[in-house]
Order: sequence, then C-alpha cells, then structure tokens
Amino acid sequence: MRALDFTIVFLSVVAICVGDDHQDEVECAAQVKCADCIKTPSCVWCPATGLKETEKIQNRCIPRKFHEKRMQDGRDWCFGHQVIDEVSSITVQKNESLSSKKGVEPVQVQPQEIHLRLRKQDGFRLKLRYTQAEDYPVDMYYLMDLSRSMYQYREHLSELGEELATTMRNLTSKFKLGFGSFVDKVALPMTDTSPARIERPCSDCAPPYGYKHQMPLSDDDKLFTRKVKAAPISGNLDAPEGGFDALMQAMVCPERIGWSEKARHLLVFCTDASSHMAGDGRLAGIIEPNDCECHLDSSGTYSHSLLQDYPSLAQIRKQARERNIHIIFAVPATKNTTYQLLSESIQDSAVGIIEKDDRSAVIDLIRDEYKKLVTSVTLIDTAPDFIDIKYSSSCLSGSAKKETDSCDGLHYSDVVEFDIVVTVTECPTDKSLLKGSFFIRPQGLNENLKIHYELICGCPCDEPGAPGHVPMAKECNYNGTLICGVCACREGFYDDVCACTGDDAAIKQNSIEKCRAPNDTSICNGRGACRCGKCTCSPGPLPNQQYSGPFCECSNFSCKRVTEGGRHRICNEHGECVCGTCKCDIGWSGTACECRDKACLPPGKNTEICSGRGKCKCGKCFCDPPSIYSGEFCQNAYCEDPKACSGSDCDILKDCVECVAYKTGPKAQENCGGCDDEIYLVDKVVTSREEHAAGTRMCWVPSEDGCTFAFKYALLREGGDQKLYNITVESTKKCPEPVPVLGVAIGVVVATVLLGLLGLLLWKVLTTLHDRKEYAKFEKERSSAKWGRDENPLYKPSTTTFSNPTFEQTSRQD
Ligand SMILES: *[C@@H]1O[C@H](CO)[C@@H](O)[C@H](O)[C@H]1NC(C)=O
Ligand SMILES: *[C@@H]1O[C@H](CO)[C@@H](O)[C@H](O)[C@H]1NC(C)=O
Ligand SMILES: *[C@@H]1O[C@H](CO)[C@@H](O)[C@H](O)[C@H]1NC(C)=O
Ligand SMILES: *[C@@H]1O[C@H](CO)[C@@H](O)[C@H](O)[C@H]1NC(C)=O
Ligand SMILES: *[C@@H]1O[C@H](CO)[C@@H](O)[C@H](O)[C@H]1NC(C)=O
Ligand SMILES: *[C@@H]1O[C@H](CO)[C@@H](O)[C@H](O)[C@H]1NC(C)=O
Ligand SMILES: *[C@@H]1O[C@H](CO)[C@@H](O)[C@H](O)[C@H]1NC(C)=O
Repeated sequence: MRALDFTIVFLSVVAICVGDDHQDEVECAAQVKCADCIKTPSCVWCPATGLKETEKIQNRCIPRKFHEKRMQDGRDWCFGHQVIDEVSSITVQKNESLSSKKGVEPVQVQPQEIHLRLRKQDGFRLKLRYTQAEDYPVDMYYLMDLSRSMYQYREHLSELGEELATTMRNLTSKFKLGFGSFVDKVALPMTDTSPARIERPCSDCAPPYGYKHQMPLSDDDKLFTRKVKAAPISGNLDAPEGGFDALMQAMVCPERIGWSEKARHLLVFCTDASSHMAGDGRLAGIIEPNDCECHLDSSGTYSHSLLQDYPSLAQIRKQARERNIHIIFAVPATKNTTYQLLSESIQDSAVGIIEKDDRSAVIDLIRDEYKKLVTSVTLIDTAPDFIDIKYSSSCLSGSAKKETDSCDGLHYSDVVEFDIVVTVTECPTDKSLLKGSFFIRPQGLNENLKIHYELICGCPCDEPGAPGHVPMAKECNYNGTLICGVCACREGFYDDVCACTGDDAAIKQNSIEKCRAPNDTSICNGRGACRCGKCTCSPGPLPNQQYSGPFCECSNFSCKRVTEGGRHRICNEHGECVCGTCKCDIGWSGTACECRDKACLPPGKNTEICSGRGKCKCGKCFCDPPSIYSGEFCQNAYCEDPKACSGSDCDILKDCVECVAYKTGPKAQENCGGCDDEIYLVDKVVTSREEHAAGTRMCWVPSEDGCTFAFKYALLREGGDQKLYNITVESTKKCPEPVPVLGVAIGVVVATVLLGLLGLLLWKVLTTLHDRKEYAKFEKERSSAKWGRDENPLYKPSTTTFSNPTFEQTSRQD
C-alpha cells in the first residue's frame, strides 16, 4: 500500500515537473502485462514474438501518441506486428427522433439504445436529448393508511376523488386512478390479536388486515370515490404502520395494479404515522426477509403478510427505480422530518404535507408534485459501481454547460441536451461483470437510454487458447506461458524468459535490485536485461560495440581515439577499450595508446629502453638527468669523449686517488700520506654540463697494474700553494680482460693429446701401407716357386689312420 502511495506521489510529482508526454510514458512503461497496459488509458501494447536478440523491445507498452509518431517516422518499433490498442467506441442500436406532439407515439429520450465498448479511465462522451411530450399518460395509485386516526383523511379523499381526477385531467387527458389500503401485520405486537379485538379493534372498525388492493388503475373517477368511501377503517396496536408491505406489493404487482408501460407512475403513500421496516417483523416472530415478489391473492389481499418481514429501504429504492415509480409521501407536518429522511434515500420520491383540516391539501399536493415532475427533468441511472457517469447541460439557458443532472422550468416540446461522460473507474475482477447493461432515464418516466456495455479490461491474447497465448512456450524456456509477447513463468521460475529459478517474490525483487546501480533508477543503466540478478548487456548502437560492466555502465567504444587520415581509431587499434579506458598492448602507451614504446629502444642486441638512462614517455626518451645524458636513446653521456673534458691536474692527483680508492699505486707504501683531498667512491663517474662549467674535470688514467680508472675532480679551495680537491672515483678500475689460465692449460693438454693421437694414426697408416706392399711382393715370389702348396717336402701329417672292415658291418646292424 505504501509503495503504491509512493508511486502515486512519485508519478504526480513527475507530472508536475515535466510534461504530460513524459507522464504518459512513465505510466505506460510501468505496465509489463498487456492487460495492465490496456487498463492504462492511451497506452498501446506491442505483442511481437520471436524477436532476434538485437530486436529486444525495451518497453512494449507506450503511449499511443508515441506509437503514431514512430509509425509516421517509418520506425516500425513492433517489427511488423499489429499493436494492441483499442479506444472506447459506440454502436448505436436505436436512435429514433424525439417526438412530443399530441396524438403521436411520444419519444422523449434520444438515443434509446446503444452499445459501448469502454476502456478504463477513457471517458466516453455522448449526448442525450430529452423533451417533455404533451399529454403523456399518468397513472396514480393512492395507497392509504386506514388505521383509525386516518378517518378524517379518508373522508377528504372520498369527497375530493372526482375533483382530483378533474384537476389532473386538466393537465393530462390520460389520467388513471387506483386505490389500495393498509393497516399492519395482524400479529402481536403490531395488532391486538385477542379474538374480540380481531373482530372489532375499535368502535365502527373492521377487522385489521395487512394490505388490500382495492381498485386497479382506471379512469373511472366515480368508482374511485366509491371505493375510498367503502374502504373500512380498522385499528391496530403500535404506532408505526405496516405501509411498506403495501408499498412493495403495489410496486411489484404491475399486472394487478394495472400500471401501464408508457406512463408516469405516481404512487401516493398517505399515512400519519411512521412505518415498520425490515427487522421489525422479528418482533412478531417473522424472520423470513421480504422477497420483493408479488403475493396478492385473488381478492387482492397480501397473502404473505405473516410469512415475510417488512421490506427494507434499499429494496424499496431498488424497486422504485427499476419499475420507474415516483413515490409521494403525503404525511402531516409532524411526520415531515421522518419521511424527509426516508425520501432522501429513495431517489424517485418526494414528501408532501397534508393536514386533517385542510380539505384540498391532497389535490394541491399531487398537482404540484406532478407539475414539478413534468417541468423538470432529472437524469438517473442504474450504472454499476465501477462505471462513473457525469452529466452536464446548459438546460434551456444556452449558456455554457455546467455539471448537473437536472433542468427546471421546462415546457412541452422544449428540448434539453445533456452531455454524458461514461467512465470506467475500475476493472472488476469478476469476469461476469465485464459485460452488462444499465440505463439512464429521466426521473419519473419509463423511457430510457439503455446502455449495453463491454469493458476492455484485457487483451485478446490473454485468453487461453487464443493466438498469442502459448503455454510452456519455447520463448519462455518451456517454463512459462507466452502471453501477448511476454512470459508468465510458472511457479519457481522468473525473469522475462523464465530462465531463472527462485520461489520467493523477495528473491525476484532482490534480483532486480541487484541489476540497479546504487543511486540509479534504471535497471542495467537501460543498456541490458537483468537476468537472474545479473545484467546481460546489449550490444552498442553500431556493430562491434558492446556494453559491459556489472550494471552495463561500461562500453568498449567510449575510449579515446586517435584520428589519422579521417579515421578514428579507438585506442589507436593498439589496445583494448575496457570501460572507457585504453589497456594498451605491450610496447604501446598513452591514454589512447598513441605512443609507441619500442621507439625508445636503441637498436642492437640486449639494449635497454632509453639505454637505462631515462624514462620512455610516449615513444620519446626523457633522459635522467638531462644535463648528463642526451641523444635519442640517452645513449650519449656528457664528457664521454675523454679529450673534451679531461683536466690538467689528472697526473698530480692520480697517485693519491689510486691509493685512497684502491690501496695500490706508488703511495700505498706511505699509507697515502699527504693525500688530503676529499675522495668519494661511486659506481660510475659522470659529469654534467653544469659541473663542467663549474670547473669539474674528468680523468682517465692508467694504474700501476695496467688497468685504468676514472675520476673527476673539482677544486674545493685554494690556500697558498696548497690546493684541495673534491674527487669522485669509480669504485672499480677498468682492467683488460684477464687471460683464462685454466682454459689455456686445458687447451694445451687437449692439443698435445690430439697431436699424439694424430701421430700414432699416421704411423699406423704408413706401416699398414708398407706391409701390404711387402705381402704383395711375397705372394708374387711364392707363385713363381717350384713346388705346389700341398706338397711341401718338409711336411709330415701328424695323424695315422687304421681300418677294420668287419667293424663297419656290425656297427651297421646295431
Ligand atoms: C441520433 O441521430 C441524430 C440525428 O437524428 C444524430 O444527430 C445523433 O448524433 C444520433 N445519436 C447518436 C448517438 O448517434
Ligand atoms: C384547467 O386549466 C386551466 C388553465 O390551465 C384553468 O384555467 C382551469 O381552471 C383549470 N381547471 C381545473 C378544474 O383545474
Ligand atoms: C419539511 O422538512 C423539510 C426538510 O427537513 C423542510 O425543507 C420543509 O420546509 C418542511 N416542510 C414543512 C411543511 O415543515
Ligand atoms: C524448465 O527449466 C529447467 C531449467 O532451466 C529445464 O531443465 C526444464 O527442462 C524446463 N522445463 C520444461 C518443462 O522444459
Ligand atoms: C547516492 O546519493 C547520495 C545522496 O545524493 C550520496 O550521498 C551517495 O554518495 C550516493 N551513492 C553513490 C554510490 O553514488
Ligand atoms: C567490443 O566488444 C565486442 C564484443 O566483445 C567485440 O566484438 C568488438 O570488437 C569490441 N569493439 C572494440 C572497438 O573493441
Ligand atoms: C664533492 O663531490 C660530491 C660528488 O660530486 C658531492 O656530493 C659533494 O657534495 C662534494 N663535496 C663538497 C664539499 O663540495
């Protein structure tokens, strides 16, 4: 409730601050269901389905104006689908012209029957014309209390019956009179039910009764007089009378009473006492409520007097209105207040004062009341609660219309026009109330404008089975129903495509909240969808663009650009655009990656950026300090060329320096005696232009051990022939590369061994060659010798062979 109030306050504040358009937009945009959109006036709904990711519609519900504008501009925002929109509309079913002339069938209300399709809050305007027909029939039923105190009134009425008729006939030629009388329920405590009293409640009294219909409506005035005269006076016990029972019966028994369809119906209720109402019947043990049905027996007596309770005021009001009966309470002045109060709650009624001693009061009253009725018109309606009807008219004045439902001072054939605004204030939840009818009619007349209405409180696709209503749709991940383009997820699932699980409504809210940046009203900055508590960012407006970040607050196209040759290159195309800042590739720097760090690397191998003597800023070396280092890569140091900066005192100072710094040199024996200069050791001695200008000089001198060392000196002070210097020495000398002793030794050994091996190999080869030669010579000599190879005369075999012929056979048989 509070949230709602807040929303209303918020919306109204918005409305005050900005134009109507914006308010409409906000109101429409707040609707996420088609039905709710249609319930918001002047919003239209796009039910498009099957959209591509790039075609997501942010707001399906937008003001009609916007829709029309977009379509005019050729922006088919609903992707070819028909938007759902409907305006209140009218179908005229009966629209006969007014006619008020005597002798013609009167038509006093125009139009007579219409059909309205109404959208909520969309006030529908229509015109209703009214004219007073001349000589319109009047039915008057006189309902009289005939308890004892009313004796006098009855006398007057019986005397005046004909006069009344004449007076009325002077006003309208079609006048009919009817008569009925009542006392009260014949039961205690209303009536004394002792047999004697029942028989004769008072002197000259007839037995009491509830209600008796004495005379149907007729134009026989004499009969009226007779009937009134003949109606017996009776008596009862308590003060209030049972007139409402009679009033109800007189209204709900139109056939018995004889009410004509086309006539003004006047019901004069004449009593000098107050009346019993619903609930009073319980005093007599009657608990069944009044059923508003006709219960007159053949003699015209109310048969359910002791079976049903008195009717309630609401029941009387309803019947009077529906049956178009104008009730005139004719009461003595003492009862004025009571009946005024009753009359206030019965729209179609009036109170008139009659007095016992004033004979003609009744006639005056009825005539005046009738005149009041015909010279004025008051529109009444039977619209249900959720339909609000406003009337306005300028009546006969011709001036501007003002809000009113009645006009006075009319004459026959005057035509008054009412502007009627029919507004549906609320869509009823009960579907059966979405269609119905009611009527608007001038008070006291039974001609009316019948309005059939049909409320537009939803979309066609809301209905199961209708096109656009797909249960367990693919678009909803098979976990929800697609209704008019949006998903209604089944329990346990949520989100616009039912992709998230979670039961609690709180989780849902929370997950939406999680997509809202602190202090931001929009979800995902309006650049993405909130899915399960996380933003799914949409692509940017152009291809290759993408929003990102937890709330889609970042983009990869809002970084600095480098413009060159008419092309704008994000991050110079040498870096990644992350949330508006360039993350440059290695070797590139700068806010737009416009700097090429490689430009700071001197050519050659194993070089350092800016030779390690400065910082690289956007492709340029900034040497540190600039007074010492210079050059594109800071490769030059000031005074690197010894000749340029060397001082003349180097030879004088070098022994002391060598001694103090390295403990070597000629002065080492003397413990560096006489070396008073201030001597500092540093890694590398450099000097700057300023120092040079101030007298600092460099020295590169050889030391005793064949190395060189560098130092610089500046004159500290000079006293007589004594000069004191401030000297800075490099802590290490520069010596020539030392010979690698081990390497040489190993080399010599290896070389010796190899040489030896080579020698052996050579010797082997030579001897082998010599041997081959010798062998060949030997072979040649042998082949030229006299004996064969097998007949060496010196050879004697070392083996002897014996043979036994028999042994061979036996061994075979075995
Ligand atoms: C009924 O007809 C009259 C003309 O006879 C016209 O002026 C009026 O607009 C019609 N009413 C409706 C509701 O269409
Ligand atoms: C009938 O009406 C006329 C004028 O409207 C009036 O002069 C006359 O007295 C009336 N007659 C009766 C009986 O009221
Ligand atoms: C009856 O009561 C109404 C309102 O209470 C008042 O206006 C009217 O003058 C009263 N009539 C008489 C005759 O007292
Ligand atoms: C509902 O969603 C779950 C998880 O997303 C999925 O596994 C399941 O198949 C879906 N249900 C149906 C009926 O498709
Ligand atoms: C939100 O707004 C308040 C008040 O304007 C401010 O104090 C606070 O710092 C803001 N928070 C953030 C996260 O911007
Ligand atoms: C932005 O991001 C998208 C998706 O990651 C990518 O395709 C595109 O190239 C990026 N654009 C730029 C300029 O970095
Ligand atoms: C001597 O030179 C060194 C290095 O250049 C300097 O730091 C120091 O202050 C100098 N000393 C004096 C006394 O000038």
